[in-house]
Amino acid sequence: MQRHQQPIGIFDSGIGGLTVANAVSKLLPSEQLIYFGDTAHMPYGDKSKELVSSYATRITEFLLHEKKCKAVIIACNTASAAGYETLRDKFKGIVPVINVIDPMIEAVITDEQVKHVGIIATKTTIGSGVYQEKLTRRKPELKFSALATPLLAGMIEEGFYNNNISHAVLEKYFTDKTLQGIDSLVLACTHYPLIKNEIDAYYGGKVKIFDSAEVVALKLKSILEKENLLATERKGADSFLVSDYTQSFEIATQIFYGQEVHLSLTNIWQ
Ligand code: DGL
Repeated sequence: MQRHQQPIGIFDSGIGGLTVANAVSKLLPSEQLIYFGDTAHMPYGDKSKELVSSYATRITEFLLHEKKCKAVIIACNTASAAGYETLRDKFKGIVPVINVIDPMIEAVITDEQVKHVGIIATKTTIGSGVYQEKLTRRKPELKFSALATPLLAGMIEEGFYNNNISHAVLEKYFTDKTLQGIDSLVLACTHYPLIKNEIDAYYGGKVKIFDSAEVVALKLKSILEKENLLATERKGADSFLVSDYTQSFEIATQIFYGQEVHLSLTNIWQ
């Protein structure tokens, strides 16, 4: 198969990265996607950087060598924070590896309205300091406040949003003194776009909410264009692989992807 007709690999700890896959499908309908959710190891958000980085490396190798992907998107902030540099260097000149953090940093620093940005994410993403370091380096005058919000990914995955439980959890986090005075908020976890409207309502539309799905899809498009890798026609159906299967994951895909998809169990860890 010609290189530009090969699929795009996308992975996350679970099904949260389907928010990114959904944005990619909408923007680039001719591209065939192979999604890998590492549900056997989910959540990544409370694991060490070293462990998450080793998972991300193995999944990327699988997508490149066994699935012949022409590009790989790390559709997970935690894996991007823990493993992007390693993957970029390892596969340099072989395939483009796209993370979800850099396109978001770009969107934030180029928005002149943003003066004080909040960042919410898993413990591992916040603990890595990646967002804080990149924002400081790229725009030193920008004020930022980062808060780990470890309950959110599990809560969303269990379908708890737009209800009194999610309202109470958000209230607890958003009244934390760390986030006071923000004018904008980065949803630095690919699960969080699902509660974007709820967060917007909490702030009464007064805080600008950044989510990564669309900016990452746009970044992918520009890289594929630059490298002459855009597919000219669709070659096959998308596939959705997981390292551990439960029916509840399959049902939850409806929430993240907008439609229920069939998940195939693919154990790459043996
Ligand atoms: N979706 C992952 C992220 O963007 C978080 C979920 C997890 O903790 O595995 O960080």
